[in-house]
Amino acid sequence: MIKAVKGTRDILPAESSAWQRIEATARQVFARYGYREIRTPIFEETELFARGIGADTDIVSKEMYSFEDRDGASLTLRPEATAGIVRSVIENGLINSDPALKVYAIGPMFRRERPQKGRYRQFHQLDVEAFGMALPSIDVEVIELALAYLEACKLSGCELILNSVGDRNCRPAYVETLRAALRTQAIRLCADCQRRTETNPLRVLDCKVPEDQAVIEGLPRICDHLCAECRDHFAEVRRELALLGISYRLSHRLVRGLDYYTRTTFEVVSGELGAQNSVLGGGRYDGLVEDLGGPDLTGIGFALGMERLVLLLPAVSDERRCDVFLAPLAPGALDTALRLQLELRRAGVSVLMDHQARGLKARMKLADKLGARYVAMLGEDELRKGAWAIRDMAGSSQEEVAEARAAEHLKEKLRG
Ligand code: HAM
Repeated sequence: MIKAVKGTRDILPAESSAWQRIEATARQVFARYGYREIRTPIFEETELFARGIGADTDIVSKEMYSFEDRDGASLTLRPEATAGIVRSVIENGLINSDPALKVYAIGPMFRRERPQKGRYRQFHQLDVEAFGMALPSIDVEVIELALAYLEACKLSGCELILNSVGDRNCRPAYVETLRAALRTQAIRLCADCQRRTETNPLRVLDCKVPEDQAVIEGLPRICDHLCAECRDHFAEVRRELALLGISYRLSHRLVRGLDYYTRTTFEVVSGELGAQNSVLGGGRYDGLVEDLGGPDLTGIGFALGMERLVLLLPAVSDERRCDVFLAPLAPGALDTALRLQLELRRAGVSVLMDHQARGLKARMKLADKLGARYVAMLGEDELRKGAWAIRDMAGSSQEEVAEARAAEHLKEKLRG
């Protein structure tokens, strides 16, 4: 038997209503903050991600699904949405027509990670990006939007984690200080961190290897090395968060797995997710648009892992699949049933009928499983009288209604 590829999963009919709900909520909430949808391609030139996310990140160095196209071009299935959106903003000059551009995207991403609960090779993100806004108040608005969305999805018990990773003025010096400190401790670090010390020391702060933790906790902290502008920016973000009553935990280790971040970074984590506890993450990326060949334009956003959100939401019992179930039982009842079905559907009522010749008992069981509120039966008796027997599934009461009145009767019942 052919099985789904490792790390991919089907979203089955029983789950899809939860997915539709979180998508619909996203569209509603994001629109309230002025965001419009953008849809970019699922594959892009490999170089976009290498330049955008950073060649020394785990994503680019070992997790991308890259392939050679027939013309020799190297293409990659997008591992995240930000780089593609930035490309589109530049290529289409979106910022010229909209100087305060706010967009969101929904769709699949691909990373060749080791699959486990909450971590897949094809997963889905809700992604939000705001361009051309430099003030700390947009950082706060984006964070507040993320929390408002989670609340609208009725998710509670999450924690917001906040940090500033500095900018191009102050971070290079901090990275050198960090590298120097790491070199003195190299012998106590795992092989990956020894390598990261040279290639990308910030990534050491992400390391989860238990033996490395004591060293990492003692390393120089970015918050003590921010330049005046970054310090002021962060102080204002924190002041506004306090003003809005948004609580958070500061973590100097929140550097995130992508290299484009500047200043504010944040994540929302849940204790209920196990090892993959990050529900959403994001931050400011002020140099990225320019790095990818565009104008000097600020950017900030976040992405939420939809599989993780669905895992956290309470399971909803089976949804109602129809209001009315028709059971033409007698020979010759089918034509009347087909006419009633059409009339009701045209009036916006959800109607289902058995397309398998089952007995009455089996049909009633099916109607119950489908969540039907009314079952309309047409047996030999009813057919002779020109009437439908209509059963109210909740009250288990039954009444006879003339054929000509049946549609109107059911519509009235459903309205009431
Ligand atoms: P990220 O932290 O790599 O950031 O991913 C964001 C979210 O996607 C994570 O918090 C997690 O919920 C989900 N996620 C990531 N990898 C997987 C996986 N393998 N399986 C399931 N879920 C996963 C970004 O992607 C940035 N582009 C976010 C951003 C937007 N920053 C600014 N704008």
